Amino acid sequence: MIEITNLSKNYGTKKALQNLNLKIEPGKIFGFLGHNGAGKSTTIKTLVSIHNPTSGTVTVDGLDLAEHRQEIKRKIAYVPDTPDIFLQLSATEYWDLLVAAYQLDRDAVQSRLQKLITLFDMNFHVDETLSSFSHGMRQKAILIGALMTDPDIWILDEPMQGLDPQAAFDLKKLMQDHAQKGKTVIFSTHNLDTAEQLCDELAILKKGQLIYNGSVQDLLNQHENKTLEQVYLEMAGRSDSKIMDELEGGGHE
Ligand SMILES: Nc1ncnc2c1ncn2[C@@H]1O[C@H](COP(=O)(O)OP(=O)(O)OP(=O)(O)O)[C@@H](O)[C@H]1O
Ligand SMILES: [Mg+2]
Repeated sequence: MIEITNLSKNYGTKKALQNLNLKIEPGKIFGFLGHNGAGKSTTIKTLVSIHNPTSGTVTVDGLDLAEHRQEIKRKIAYVPDTPDIFLQLSATEYWDLLVAAYQLDRDAVQSRLQKLITLFDMNFHVDETLSSFSHGMRQKAILIGALMTDPDIWILDEPMQGLDPQAAFDLKKLMQDHAQKGKTVIFSTHNLDTAEQLCDELAILKKGQLIYNGSVQDLLNQHENKTLEQVYLEMAGRSDSKIMDELEGGGHE
């Protein structure tokens, strides 16, 4: 289990995350929702040790992240919010780099790596450079690299971004299977249908603060006869509801 306690992150004077408290259990798919700039990636980057929090703690299976960083990082597969990294490498060179960096046994990961390459339809592109890939192909290369060792905890920042419908479907199935094995799956998304379809548990962030934590069903039960989109927009949406009318009205004048 991952426990986040009183987690805050400031970038200079900007408060990106304020006093976040969450428990993320294995065996469930945990989703982060929130508008642009709400703090999803900041939370995720803290969990994967890219950022140090300004205050607060994270524990993973009872171990303090700050004290057991390397040990915990080995348990995590991370997909960043942008796939535009290591663009000068071919896909195979990128995966080889990960094998070397994580001191993995190439033969041990080979079989799963090959299956993922085939699943994501990348067999004909493994020797091409990431710079020559489309956005979705880069996303696939990053996903394959993250998932090739099958670590216990998957932390995926907008992982379906740019994927074709087949790849998105396959990734969702992989996430469901991983959770069903009792492992941890954490992801962020802007797609409310995906959130409704996949998430056992949801955290909605607004301007760095947690405004909902619970199941999708509980949230919908609290707002009878409303869709997740309606509920989400009421909770996280803009404060000035007149601006759309003004924009629309202005456009017709
Ligand atoms: N490296 C950084 N330096 C300064 N401010 C940052 C940095 N990264 C994020 N922020 C700020 O922190 C806040 C939260 O950003 P974050 O990237 O966590 O949002 P997000 O919920 O992931 O948004 P999106 O949906 O656009 O990905 C924003 O106000 C953003 O401007
Ligand atoms: Mg983000």
